[in-house]
Amino acid sequence: MIKFTIQHIKDFKHSHKPFPTITAYDYTSAQIIDEAQIPLILVGDSASMMVYGYDTTIPVSMEEMLFLVRAVTRGATHSLIVADMPFLSYQPSIKEALNNAGRFIKEGRASAVKIEGGTHVRKHVSSLVENGIPVLGHVGLTPQSYHQLSGYKMQGKTVEGAQKIIDDATALQEAGSFGIVLECIPENLAKQITNTLSIPTIGIGSGHHCDGQIQVFHDVLGFSPLKPPKHAMQYDTMYSNVLNSIKKYKLDIENQ
Ligand code: KIV
Repeated sequence: MIKFTIQHIKDFKHSHKPFPTITAYDYTSAQIIDEAQIPLILVGDSASMMVYGYDTTIPVSMEEMLFLVRAVTRGATHSLIVADMPFLSYQPSIKEALNNAGRFIKEGRASAVKIEGGTHVRKHVSSLVENGIPVLGHVGLTPQSYHQLSGYKMQGKTVEGAQKIIDDATALQEAGSFGIVLECIPENLAKQITNTLSIPTIGIGSGHHCDGQIQVFHDVLGFSPLKPPKHAMQYDTMYSNVLNSIKKYKLDIENQ
């Protein structure tokens, strides 16, 4: 089985074959995803909600993320593991970005990090890349800016908004990102950015023209009692399946 590297992910740009990526937060799911030969796993800060039960991605800490990154890298030996930098682990300074990203690589054994934002984080990105830490960018709907964006809304719907996302994506490419997540932007804008950039785009809620797609593990498996987001690609109803099994177990014991 192939061991995916940054170069493999970059090469998808020219293969013209869309590639799948997914989040994971623990050892067992990482093993399953790895066996399915998914090229890239993101230990997303969506763990803030999916694992830790917070209401947004904002509260999750470096330490909380590091635990999950370690578990995922133990479970997946072929997929490329990208660790998501939590809110305020990189924004305050380039030094902090370097220290915290370095912890994900050194202690977490991840191969790359993801950070949200465009032109205002380009110096952080170039510094990480110069110091040997590959960076996946993330523009459009950036959930760590939940309050600034007044909620989870499609971004880039106006001419100015679209231009800002194009500028952000271009700045990230120039700073050395190996790929960029495009979250919740109009399909045509995602297509334009994908056709313009020389690095792969990975879409979520941004249509099918991106080079790759990313989904949240819990959305794909229906692992939440809540309604999934509109862009979720759901293949199972694990929440109710597991609930039924636990109820059966409960009854078996009670009736023994
Ligand atoms: O944290 C996350 O799961 C993400 C993806 C949705 C891109 O950032």
